[in-house]
Amino acid sequence: MRRSEAARADDVVARGDMLGLGAIVGAGAADVIYMDPPFGISKRFAARAEEPGGPRSRARGPVAYDDLWPSLEAYLAWLTARVVALRELLADHGTLWLHLDARAVHDAKVACDRVFGRARFLGEVIWAPGNGSKARRGPGLAHQTLLLYARGRDPVWNHSDPALREPYADTSQAMHFKQVDADGRRYRDRTVGGKTYRYYADVGRAIGTVWTDCPAMVANTPLRRETTGYPTQKPLKLLDRIVRASSRPGGLVVDPCFGSGTTLVAAAAAGRRFAGCDIGERAVRTARARLDEAHVSYIYRELTDAAEAS
Ligand SMILES: C[S@@+](CC[C@H](N)C(=O)[O-])C[C@H]1O[C@@H](n2cnc3c(N)ncnc32)[C@H](O)[C@@H]1O
Repeated sequence: MRRSEAARADDVVARGDMLGLGAIVGAGAADVIYMDPPFGISKRFAARAEEPGGPRSRARGPVAYDDLWPSLEAYLAWLTARVVALRELLADHGTLWLHLDARAVHDAKVACDRVFGRARFLGEVIWAPGNGSKARRGPGLAHQTLLLYARGRDPVWNHSDPALREPYADTSQAMHFKQVDADGRRYRDRTVGGKTYRYYADVGRAIGTVWTDCPAMVANTPLRRETTGYPTQKPLKLLDRIVRASSRPGGLVVDPCFGSGTTLVAAAAAGRRFAGCDIGERAVRTARARLDEAHVSYIYRELTDAAEAS
């Protein structure tokens, strides 16, 4: 994967606490921030061990990062301090995506409403990774939630980008898209309030808020090329959609806890600039190797104030 002409060569990868991101991202400079932090679920995440004969189970791999907290309150205080700092980095048209799951997302939503103002909540996306569930008590968790907040009144949302479209249902195509234009494209016309709108079958419909077409397995099984072995790696397709939804070509995509570097790779491939950090040594190593493999150049920085960050 090679970066597009539109992107610049001053992309930055850094190691350190995201509280220090201001050293590499100017206030108001970020078009979109994708934040996929520890979920607040009291778990230790191991990376897949690289051993002769191929990648092995995560259980035997080295610890990649901890998601261990004394209490939910402690987790929320940690998260809120970082959301406050990240909001300062957003442009007026910028958006922040916060990726969590049902175990803390409702508490985080209340905290984020206070930081951004409830009117800046743009909505939530339910991502179904397709991994099944391990229900013991109650319904098994089979989805994660992405909260979307805008800094200002007029956020970027590229609703007609192909990454945000899905095919019309077969029945809809058969019933409604019966007309064909001079180029051979199937369409339907709808008249609403005296005005006629034309819809093309090949453009598809808006994807909506439930995303089931970005399976996690693509990023998590050693059988797939995308997999780095880093735990909780997100699929490129998911990040490609987020980047394309909320930024324009050449815009700045920021990931404050990039893990395996999925967002950075997706941003470069989509012709956006990127800046990101992670506090973990393994994450930085993984993301850098991934960018190198994709022939994406970047500047590397250590966030010197990370040690002071709480
Ligand atoms: C859920 S993982 C991110 C996975 C990533 N989205 C991917 O696709 O690989 C969470 C990451 O947050 C990082 N992290 C935890 N605390 C952090 C902090 N204070 N500043 C920056 N990164 C942090 C962890 O090291 C871990 O890599």
